[in-house]
Amino acid sequence: MKKIGLIIWPLKGNVEKAALKIKNHFTNDEIDILDLSTVKPHHLLLYENIILGSSTVGADHWENATDDNKWYTFFHQMDIDNVDYLEKKVALYGLGDQVNYPHNFVDGMERVYSNLSKHNFKLVGEWENKGYNFQDSLALHDNKFRGLALDFDNDEENADAMIAEWVEILKKEF
Ligand SMILES: Cc1cc2nc3c(=O)[nH]c(=O)nc-3n(C[C@H](O)[C@H](O)[C@H](O)COP(=O)(O)O)c2cc1C
Repeated sequence: MKKIGLIIWPLKGNVEKAALKIKNHFTNDEIDILDLSTVKPHHLLLYENIILGSSTVGADHWENATDDNKWYTFFHQMDIDNVDYLEKKVALYGLGDQVNYPHNFVDGMERVYSNLSKHNFKLVGEWENKGYNFQDSLALHDNKFRGLALDFDNDEENADAMIAEWVEILKKEF
């Protein structure tokens, strides 16, 4: 399999925990986990396949260009570079909390997607809306999430099985 760059932010929480679970389905040669704060957008060209892992922690996380806002900085740089990513394949996963944020469940995945969609990536690994209990999500289109929606706060017990199933989809689509 062509090498995967698994790029995550933030670190030390559920996004990183999910990344380690995903990595377990591959050999070390097949996947690198990278901290978004150390990656420039053009580094994505070094990988044939890309996974971006994020969480939803409110609008501020996205809309204010602060030092804490690594996704904003990353995508802002991507807009400036204006590189053609030549339909490079990218899959998304997002952490959220469907009980406490039922109207914004994993909204952040949509923000990642909408930023990528300006730069000629090909999205793979969309995920069926089944087994969840929420009201609204920006990341839902035609009853599919833009990528794997994970809720470790309320449903961690199903996460391993969901990740295993999603990785099988990726192995076919990458
Ligand atoms: C301040 C705050 C705001 C949050 N807002 C949302 C939200 O709008 N939608 C959602 O699905 N989850 C929301 N969450 C839940 C987180 O996405 C969830 O706990 C996730 O697992 C955090 O992963 P991380 O620790 O790796 O960032 C929020 C959590 C916090 C602390």
